[in-house]
Amino acid sequence: MADILDGRDSGTITRAAIRLRAGGLVAFPTETVYGLGANALDARAVANVYAVKNRPRFDPLIVHVADAAAVADYATGIDGRARRLIERFWPGPLTLVLPKRPAIPDIVTAGLDTVAVRQPAHPVALDLLRAVQLPIAAPSANPFGYVSPTTAAHVQDTLGHALDEILNGGPCSVGVESTVLALDGPRAVLLRPGGVTLEQLESVIGKTDTPSSSGDSARPDPRSPGTLPSHYAPRVPLILLQPGQAVPRPAKGDQVGLLTFAPRAEASGYSVMEHLSANGDLIEAAANLFAVLRRLDTQNLQRVFVEPVPETGLGRAIMDRLRRAAARV
Ligand code: TXA
Ligand code: MG
Repeated sequence: MADILDGRDSGTITRAAIRLRAGGLVAFPTETVYGLGANALDARAVANVYAVKNRPRFDPLIVHVADAAAVADYATGIDGRARRLIERFWPGPLTLVLPKRPAIPDIVTAGLDTVAVRQPAHPVALDLLRAVQLPIAAPSANPFGYVSPTTAAHVQDTLGHALDEILNGGPCSVGVESTVLALDGPRAVLLRPGGVTLEQLESVIGKTDTPSSSGDSARPDPRSPGTLPSHYAPRVPLILLQPGQAVPRPAKGDQVGLLTFAPRAEASGYSVMEHLSANGDLIEAAANLFAVLRRLDTQNLQRVFVEPVPETGLGRAIMDRLRRAAARV
């Protein structure tokens, strides 16, 4: 098991930075989900990240930086759109895909000629980045394909056996991953909906393409190799209901769960009922999503019916994750 250490302790941060500089791995909190970090300039350390997560080598990692000025060290093509977005949303849950500089090893970008960069907003992540004085390559700290972690205990549950220590920064405030936006061409392309909404992006840069919003294509979008149809998935099968579809009544004796957006007093016959938000708030729903999915996964249920949430604002990211969590391949 890994040690769970207080990420607000400066000695802990100093030691974690030393570990990263020596090629080690550190799990740390961000405002979106917990990350599994390695020195982004050390190809061997990054190879270990893929190994620990059992992540396919075709799925590139996000490079986390301490400040906006560092982007120019690792990417080119930082145009007016990129500058306006950075100014408005960093530090925060927005990842920009830009043409890469040679300083970033190919293993980080899975051989692509672009690199994904973001400045996280969590104070522990920022302290760690400032202490290490290196870019940190970090995917979500979960086994590949499983539900992302939003607490240190989540990281411990599924990767604790493979790690020495986890920096604790409390529950993640956003709860879904960063928005991934490609800016390496003339049109801005939303590769993954996330913590910064499409509406927020468009208020800054205008029309943004959304090719990956369906999530039901058989193969990943080659521009965003990580957007696989099945992802974020608990072991218990999820059945995503259509908007407005009546909640089905489980057969007697069946162990079935129900996950709704807000509480649903009238549903009956379920072994377990969970909701994403007490009063139907998408921000609260996003923050609860992965913890609720992990909880449902420990109840020995045969299946879980899931009510959709409205697909606006953060609802896009929530529905993207729910579709992939429900997809079986
Ligand atoms: O919120 C987040 O982004 C979290 C925290 C830890 O920062 N990280 C995260 O990393 O979600 P990960 O590895 O689980 O997801 C990274 C996503 C994948 O879908 C990957 O394919 C995409 O970013 N990505 C990374 N580099 C890319 C590139 N050069 N071009 C296109 N997509 C890229
Ligand atoms: Mg992930």
